[in-house]
Amino acid sequence: MENNNQPAKAQDTGNQKTTFSGNLGYILAVAGSAVGLGNIWRFPYLAAKYGGGIFLLVYLILMLTFGYAMIVSETAIGRMTGKSPVGAFQSFGSQKWLKFGGWINAIIPILILPYYSVIGGWVVKYVYEYLRGNSSGISNDTFFGEFIGNSLTSEICFAAFVLAAFFVIVAGVKNGIEAVSKIIMPALVILAIVTAVYSITCPGALEGVKYFLVPNFQDFSIMTVVAAMGQMFYSLSLAMGILYTYGSYLKKESDIEKNTTEVEIFDTGIAILAGLMIIPAVFAFTGGDMATLKAGPSLMFITLPKVFESMGMANVIGSVFFIMVLFAALTSAISLFETSTATISEELGLNRMLSSLIVLGVSLILGTASVFGYGIWSFVEIFGMQILDFFDFLTNSLMMPVSAFFTCLLVIKVVGFDEIAKEVKLSSKFRRQPMYYVVTKYIAPFFLLIILASSIAGALGLITI
Ligand code: PHE
Repeated sequence: MENNNQPAKAQDTGNQKTTFSGNLGYILAVAGSAVGLGNIWRFPYLAAKYGGGIFLLVYLILMLTFGYAMIVSETAIGRMTGKSPVGAFQSFGSQKWLKFGGWINAIIPILILPYYSVIGGWVVKYVYEYLRGNSSGISNDTFFGEFIGNSLTSEICFAAFVLAAFFVIVAGVKNGIEAVSKIIMPALVILAIVTAVYSITCPGALEGVKYFLVPNFQDFSIMTVVAAMGQMFYSLSLAMGILYTYGSYLKKESDIEKNTTEVEIFDTGIAILAGLMIIPAVFAFTGGDMATLKAGPSLMFITLPKVFESMGMANVIGSVFFIMVLFAALTSAISLFETSTATISEELGLNRMLSSLIVLGVSLILGTASVFGYGIWSFVEIFGMQILDFFDFLTNSLMMPVSAFFTCLLVIKVVGFDEIAKEVKLSSKFRRQPMYYVVTKYIAPFFLLIILASSIAGALGLITI
């Protein structure tokens, strides 16, 4: 492989890329993409399922090392080349592996958006039910199962969510949404704190706090690491081209390292808060029943309504909470939609409208499969997983390790650590440079391959998922 250290600025086509108005704009956009269902819905159920405290510990270690290194690589290369992933990879040469590396980054969001929107649809349904005052119905154990088992209702909610994201993209009201979410996000944090405090103080909940915060090494398995790694990519919106794209809009004077730290703190803080809302409540309401703890994707939708119901004024709290979650989910979905649309329009040379229609079409088809997987197609199982879980597994556990591997390879083989350091140091001290170097060069590539192998072994039933 020839070593081509030339960053692509020279080849820049000079197309008028928008840049973020300032650092705050960038942080909000990245945080808007990062904070979403991954923090509030996905993190708590994975933590509950994969051993509580030990999952949290592994997650934190991965986030501070790998997560940090990946954010820096993607953002720095995005800013250096001024391009989103396919273009960024190819601006360093035309070898096949560079093409592949760019494309795998770009395809992941197109596969995540459909099933993300299905969960978004579940949130839509909860908002609707709380607004019409049905809090006691929702807090019933069977409500959620009956709802997702009804393919027509779930399909309508799912379609409403994707169409909302589509509308924001084509109507160009994205900035409006981001402006609103500046108010909604802090409010969400406050309500989450209140709910978490309430959950923790319910009788019996302390066991849950212990389960979530204190690592128990007996609960450790290789799947703890696989799941924590997938979650880290998902939650920080990594390994799927998003930060390349956002980095390409970033001004040279923005401090990459400081921004990264802020996003890490914010994103992880919200995930931990969500864990504290949900996991202790499982103990308070079911005495730490293992089947409930391992409920997976349904956990938030079954446990939170019970918490709200027992808090009093459930319809008000439930409406406010789920509306906020809906906003957080929408800003993330928008970033997925936006990146997918940009890739299609840049690479296939189509205009934005047509590109966004293609993304919409793919989302409607794949998302419908996920919806039906819980209802009329519930007999379909792929490697023992339901369709939605399969898409989640495919993207987070199989494709993301591969795309992250290619990003490491790009840094090691082509861009070079000096170029990355030069780019980051334009505006940052780059204090964690030694760690960045060691993780990217010596740990990440091997580790990613092990993760990938374990995921495949898990899917084939060679180890338990
Ligand atoms: N990070 C988002 C979340 O936590 C989900 C997401 C994944 C958004 C990938 C964009 C890209 O919900």
